[in-house]
This record gives sequence, structure tokens and C-alpha cells, in this order.
Amino acid sequence: MNITFYGHGCIAITLSDGKEILIDPYISPNPLASHIDEKKLSPDFILLTHGHEDHVADAEAIAKRSGATIVANYEVATWFENKGCTVHPMNHGGKWGFPFGTVKYVNAVHSSTLPDGSPGGNPGGFVIEADGKTVYISGDTALTLDMKLIGEAYDLDLAIMCIGDNFTMGYEDAAIAADFVQCQEVLGIHFDTFGYIKVDTQKAQAHFLAQGKNLHILSIGEHLSI
Ligand code: NI
Ligand code: MN
Repeated sequence: MNITFYGHGCIAITLSDGKEILIDPYISPNPLASHIDEKKLSPDFILLTHGHEDHVADAEAIAKRSGATIVANYEVATWFENKGCTVHPMNHGGKWGFPFGTVKYVNAVHSSTLPDGSPGGNPGGFVIEADGKTVYISGDTALTLDMKLIGEAYDLDLAIMCIGDNFTMGYEDAAIAADFVQCQEVLGIHFDTFGYIKVDTQKAQAHFLAQGKNLHILSIGEHLSI
């Protein structure tokens, strides 16, 4: 499994059979990702954690061009269905077997209004089982005890978690979240994009290391194999 960071909360998971899952595409409006051409992405599925603009900005265009199915909570999925996209709606606690593996939509503590002000349901995260690996994507969330349920149910290989603070967990809470989900390998996302979420990544990595945990920080466009 190959994981590429496209800036902010956007991640692509490429499986050994070449199938690609894109999460929370926010590339064209992100000045830090100006070297990434979202028009070259051709995912099979697009997973959206919630309705906020900084997670869904490029979803419609990429979905229509690639034919990818958008997987999101019922409200967000229906909003994209009304725009002519192919969707698969989910809701909290539900798991579904897709051709590439399973996806469970799990709890997040945040908000989810869509870009035009439509209600975006409640925000979530995903647990993906594919290629013999299990990955948790927190979405935008506060630290929450619900994360312990994920640690009890799954043996995670990687936890992809927000570390930017202000709108979501900061890195100190993300380190506690790593304990809750029982995964010491964390990929940090949702930082540096805006002034509110600038992070001293070296300090964050040292904080994790002091607890025997590993905080992976990727440059935009860089990837990690697990
Ligand atoms: Ni958000
Ligand atoms: Mn966000």
C-alpha cells in the first residue's frame, strides 16, 4: 500500500493492483500544493470525511472526469449525487465491502457544513482495510474517547491524523489519540495550510518520539509505503 500526501487533508492510497482511493481532495485552492496537478489524478473512489470546503473542493471535478465513486456520509453523498456524481452513502458505525476492501465510517467530533451552506450531516473518519493493511483516517476531529473503540476493533498499521490544532486536534492530542487507537505509526495531516494551523513539525515529531511513537511528516507530493 502506497500513501501519497497531496497537502492539507488530502491523501491518495494506491493499492498493489493499481486501484486508487483519494481522500478529501483540496488541491487546486491550496497554494502549498501548486506543484500538484489534480487533473492528472484518476482515482477509483473518493472518500470525503465531511462537507467542509477544505476537504471537498476538487471532489466534483475529479469524480466527473475519472468516474470515481464518492463515498461520504448520507448528506454529503446526496449533495454530490445532485450534482451528477456517482456516490455511495454511509453513516456512522457502518462498514461496507468495496471491490478494493472494506471501509467503516467512524465518529469524529467537528462540524460538516457544505460549501454552499447546505447541512453536511455529521463529520466522520474512515477505517480502511485493503491490501492486507488497515489504516485509520481521523478526518477533522477533536480527541475523543470513541477512538478507543477503533483500537479495540482493529489492528492498525497506520493512523492518519490531524495535528494542526485550532480547528482539530493538535499534535499533543494526536499522540494521545495514537494510544487510543493503539497505533504507534502516525502520519500527520491538516497542518501549515492556513495561519491558524501552522505547526513546528520537528517539535511535534520529538514529542511523539519521546513517547516511543513515530510521527511521519511528508512533503506535499511525497509518499510512504506501508
Ligand atoms: Ni473541517
Ligand atoms: Mn479541515
